[in-house]
Amino acid sequence: MTVTDPRRLREIVDEICERMAAETDRGHVADYIPELAKVDPRRFALVLSTAEGNVISGGDADTRFSIQSISKVFALAVALGRIGDQLWTRVGREPSGDPFNSIVQLEHERGIPRNPFINAGAIAVTDAILSRSEPREALGQILQFVRFLADDDDIAIDPAVAKSETETGWRNAALANFMRDFGTIQRHPEKVIGTYFHHCAISMTPRQLAQAGRFLAFDGALSPGGARAIAPRMARQINALMLTCGHYDGSGEFAFRVGLPGKSGVGGGILAVAPGRAAIGCWSPGLNAVGNSHLASIALEMLADRTGWSVFAPK
Ligand code: DON
Repeated sequence: MTVTDPRRLREIVDEICERMAAETDRGHVADYIPELAKVDPRRFALVLSTAEGNVISGGDADTRFSIQSISKVFALAVALGRIGDQLWTRVGREPSGDPFNSIVQLEHERGIPRNPFINAGAIAVTDAILSRSEPREALGQILQFVRFLADDDDIAIDPAVAKSETETGWRNAALANFMRDFGTIQRHPEKVIGTYFHHCAISMTPRQLAQAGRFLAFDGALSPGGARAIAPRMARQINALMLTCGHYDGSGEFAFRVGLPGKSGVGGGILAVAPGRAAIGCWSPGLNAVGNSHLASIALEMLADRTGWSVFAPK
């Protein structure tokens, strides 16, 4: 049975928020980007933005957080809109089975990253956007796109987080230099990672995230049959990549437990998509061993269980 009744969804969100508030094991907040280590691990939020236009929220739904790798979804949509299928000459579409910041496959696979969601892949996607714009312009385009999707201009890049990662992101610098040598990226590596760090530093609330994810739930449109953000084919492709690669070496486990396309970030956010039903923003800063939000993963498993929203459930 699939749940669509907003009163029942309200009960489910309340139940999950209560359970998550009582959890003592909250995972570990990322500290390799020093600015992220300042976030309170007790935070939790869950927001559903449904096909019927209801927004059902619980917890810290209006607290801003750093979306980090979730920005890779928006950057991918912008790059596909710009250069279309040509993007796939620079980046693959296979799960990596390795951590998000791994370099090991790059040498064997001649500098072509496995998918657009591992760091190397997202850096290649960022370079593709930069093939037609300078960093400031490219960042403006990504940010404008996110604001348009969420219908909210109050979404911004957090300069302290961008600076913090610029000062410590040596591994990403290594990935970018390595790919520059193979010709996967064409702009200067410093420019590319500078742009990448800034889009990862987009800061928004779980409510804004759920709203910004609607285009993936409704086949590229902002609401069922509504104004279009991207082509249906593209939205389906992005969802497929989120299901198979959105949680790095935890992607199989997330698909198994939750059964929804999802993209995580080290800020503790997860954007999940229930096609035709809702976009979901979930946030809790503590991470599990593979760098995905510990409580948001559990919360989404509960949500999928209670609602029947798994993509593998018959419609
Ligand atoms: O490049 C990094 O390491 C961060 N800006 C983003 C990594 C990230 O969010 C991985 N997600 N779980």
